[in-house]
Amino acid sequence: MHFRDRFPIFQSKIYINTCSYGALSTDVRAAYESYLDDRDKYGAHWEYWVEMLEELRIRIATLLNAGPDEMALSSSLSEGVNALASALSFTAGRNKIVVTDFDFPSTAHIWYAQEKRGAKIVRASADEDDRTIPLENFEKVIDDSTLLVSIPYVCYRNGARQELEPIIKLAHRHGALVFVDCYQAVGAIPIDVKQLDVDFLAGGMLKYLLSTAGTGFLYVRESLHEKLQPFTSGWFSQRDIHAMDITKNDPSPTARRFESGTPNVANIYAAIAGLKLIEQVKVSNVQSDVRELIASIRNRAADNGFKLGIAQQAHSPMISLKSKDMYALVAKLAEEDIIVSCRDDNLRVSPHFYNNLDDIEHLFAALIKHRVLMA
Ligand SMILES: Cc1ncc(COP(=O)(O)O)c(C=O)c1O
Repeated sequence: MHFRDRFPIFQSKIYINTCSYGALSTDVRAAYESYLDDRDKYGAHWEYWVEMLEELRIRIATLLNAGPDEMALSSSLSEGVNALASALSFTAGRNKIVVTDFDFPSTAHIWYAQEKRGAKIVRASADEDDRTIPLENFEKVIDDSTLLVSIPYVCYRNGARQELEPIIKLAHRHGALVFVDCYQAVGAIPIDVKQLDVDFLAGGMLKYLLSTAGTGFLYVRESLHEKLQPFTSGWFSQRDIHAMDITKNDPSPTARRFESGTPNVANIYAAIAGLKLIEQVKVSNVQSDVRELIASIRNRAADNGFKLGIAQQAHSPMISLKSKDMYALVAKLAEEDIIVSCRDDNLRVSPHFYNNLDDIEHLFAALIKHRVLMA
């Protein structure tokens, strides 16, 4: 079966909206069905479910070139980052957290929430065109009082992709830790946490990893586990989840210390199925397929005089087109069974390996028809 045929939505829609939610595959549907079958068959199947949780941990770790013990699984990116934030100490000499103009609201909110605990939040600003956050803007705000720099790899509003290595090096030179939100990149751009030399990285599995809402992960560099003890806890965060010892909190020596309670079992089935698909296709192939589709969108936008959300950009799985009325445009396209989304006056087009040049052809035919809504 051709991969695209595994995504029934393409029978009725042109779906180019992975930045919002990956398309549902027959594999993920079957995974949910097998969860329900197992409930019928076994009622409770906890040992197997814990094994599956560990399988998921290994698969996501492998995708990121992390060790399984460096991964905490969660129900959302925010859940993992909240646990991480709780483990940080803000001292007089090192209490600054650098956030950016490209942050997704959740990460910004979580870091600002730490102000009550003594954190000082400073923002690195984007350039005038909202195209990138120049390194010099990080240089202006990162200093020896910086505890952590938080950067999104790809901006959810416009698809701007940040070059991470120079920022990570700069932060480390000042003794600061670095957190990367890779949600809009993971599954579409190869990510190697060791090569990046990043301290923390978080994402979720509902977009380019093709599974479902309610699944997140947090990578924590091994050498930091013992140093960082979260103020959050729960039985799945313990050294031994079977210990059932209610007289103390005994956090796992691994990144599992950033987990909390019973995992969402049905979503584990779905997340494994989504990851297996990505493993079969390979992220490097996704990247080259998506690059070709994005290039075609960029060329067609230029041919038709449509403005891009950001003029020049490094390869990113999302491209944005300026619109005069983004909600009306998304609605008009939906009437023609073309599904995209919008933010910040931008139409967001976010292909995956299941899209093809015909999809882009249809999109542009519709955009030309609704040209009055383009900026
Ligand atoms: C860059 C980015 N970070 C985080 C999130 C969401 O995180 P959470 O799983 O906490 O809802 C999104 C969702 O669209 C996102 O695009």
